[in-house]
Amino acid sequence: MLRKVLATGLLALRGLRLLRVPPLSVCKEWKRSCTLGVRSIEAGSKELSNFCHRSHTCGELRWEHVGQRVLLCGWLQYRRCDRFVILRDFHGQTQLIVPKDLVNGPGHELLHLQMESVICVRGEVRERPSGQHNHNMPTGEVEVLISSVEVLNRSRKLPFQINEAVKVNESLRLQFRYLDLRSRQLQHALRLRSNLVMSMRTFLCSQGFVDVETPTLFKKTPGGAKEFVVPSREPGKFFSLPQSPQQFKQLLMVGGLDRYFQIARCYRDEGSKPDRQPEFSQVDIELSFTSQQAVRDLVEELLCRSWPCDLPPLAQPFCTLTYDQALNLYGTDKPDTRFGMQLVDVTDEVGNTLLMSEHDSCRPRQPDCVRAICVPRGAELFCNEDFCTLKGLAKEYFNQDIIVVRLDGNDGETTSEWLSSGEHQALMEKCGAGPMDAILLAAGERFDMCLLLGKLRLECVQLLEQKGLSLRPYGLFKFLWVVDFPLFLPRKDDPTLLESAHHPFTAPHPDDAHLIYTQPQKARSQHYDLVLNGSEVGGGSVRIHNSQLQRHVLEKVLQEDIQQLSHLLAALDSGAPPHAGIALGLDRLVALLVGAHSIRDVIAFPKSFRGHDLMSNAPDWLSPEELAPYHINLCFPET
Ligand code: AMO
Repeated sequence: MLRKVLATGLLALRGLRLLRVPPLSVCKEWKRSCTLGVRSIEAGSKELSNFCHRSHTCGELRWEHVGQRVLLCGWLQYRRCDRFVILRDFHGQTQLIVPKDLVNGPGHELLHLQMESVICVRGEVRERPSGQHNHNMPTGEVEVLISSVEVLNRSRKLPFQINEAVKVNESLRLQFRYLDLRSRQLQHALRLRSNLVMSMRTFLCSQGFVDVETPTLFKKTPGGAKEFVVPSREPGKFFSLPQSPQQFKQLLMVGGLDRYFQIARCYRDEGSKPDRQPEFSQVDIELSFTSQQAVRDLVEELLCRSWPCDLPPLAQPFCTLTYDQALNLYGTDKPDTRFGMQLVDVTDEVGNTLLMSEHDSCRPRQPDCVRAICVPRGAELFCNEDFCTLKGLAKEYFNQDIIVVRLDGNDGETTSEWLSSGEHQALMEKCGAGPMDAILLAAGERFDMCLLLGKLRLECVQLLEQKGLSLRPYGLFKFLWVVDFPLFLPRKDDPTLLESAHHPFTAPHPDDAHLIYTQPQKARSQHYDLVLNGSEVGGGSVRIHNSQLQRHVLEKVLQEDIQQLSHLLAALDSGAPPHAGIALGLDRLVALLVGAHSIRDVIAFPKSFRGHDLMSNAPDWLSPEELAPYHINLCFPET
């Protein structure tokens, strides 16, 4: 198959979109190495039935199968009128009918089996009587008149019904994940994920990328997320699980692999959130002799070619904003650009009044700007309680008061108290506001005001959607690159020290390279984030490939112990090619594609909100005997 692909440039995979593989931009040797030793596999040449004993799946039978004898296997989904049974598998459902003469024989058992038992039936496909076709069911024209039944596994009474799994409390679903996996939602998500990964692999391999597995028992990496530690049998020595294969992928470039990718498992001991798991997967990529733009082009191409065919195709090129633009316009470094409501600088229009205000509650400590957002139809759709919620959030998270200007004639008090009619007019014009809109204003330090209004912008869109506006409909996918991040940030625990904004291997922006030695806090980086619908789905950078610069960053700027990274520094001194890469968060990407609220809904066996595996009850206790080889003695503080 692979040879055929390379020869024709066309790859049709069963259940996947037709991929047009581009002419390889790699040299002939790559082509040879891609095909060497690879046995040709004709995908789809064998029917599913060739590998198991069923003749069809439960989603397959149609009018044209009428009269055929079939053998179906599946789960008992539903039974009615003591004659009709619905059999389900991962492809769909088929109605079985128990003939009268079987009801008192083998069919009797079928009619009394617990739901979700697994059976195998033989029978003949027949058309349903006229008027009994079920147009909501793809197999709804036919039914199978069964001639024999074999019970393959009797189910016990289950804690929830599969077709109602979405309504069940998540802890129960996680505890019985193997049942939850039978639900339509999870089946869809996992199959879409598998197809996506398959298309990505196909595309990357066609471009000469090599799939390399890297270790998961490794050592601590300075900076970044907290790592899980794994005890070893040597007293006091521990492995760490890698937060990502970052060092390995760079070392692979030093090793001359040239183009690497991996569906990599990453581990981070940080709190679980809807978009975060302690154990998650990345589509990890690294290339030598490349540039920031080339990596971004590659990722756009990768996404466009692996994009599910039943979703609207993606428009290229993706938009780009600098970090400063993102912050100024959207109040976040991961803007959701599916809707407007951009932040507007109205310092010139209303600053004189607001920044000089005598109302202490609204006067910021170090006022330097006034920012606004205009909520379309806010005055019409938001009630007083909604405005109170918004004000409450501003107070709770930012200890900041905001001013609401309602353009429905009900803001008289606010307007007359705070703004002259000229300022009011100028404000409306600058914000592009019209009748029945509402304007939220915040005055204070620029960075804080942007963050505050960025948060309120998202809150407003949620409120507007609750009122029936559809601003973020499913099926609208807006990708965005964010670039020119700061290279370092003040450390949260000690703002006089710096930490990497991303990771310590990120190269400085070429225009700011000199600042590394003089004013590192002012340097921008060659980091790029890929944002989809307000969620960070990828991040990468051009790397430092010069050992002296890397040493300086680690030792002088970040004040890290360079012994921890001596192997990397030595590698960079051994003929390291310039390189760059990126990692896409696979779970986040799939969650957005299927419209799931949490990445837990696209992972087969996720951890709970508290980072536990509720099915097996991990993490679990180990006995002192089991801990002894690791030289670990448990000692708990007295209560
Ligand atoms: P970064 O830390 O930005 O970069 O991670 C890349 C992408 O991985 C996803 N992600 C997560 N997904 C689920 N749960 C988590 N806890 C989690 N943390 C991150 C995000 C993120 O954009 N080595 C670098 C990449 C590089 O420089 O090439 C890295 O890991 O979608």
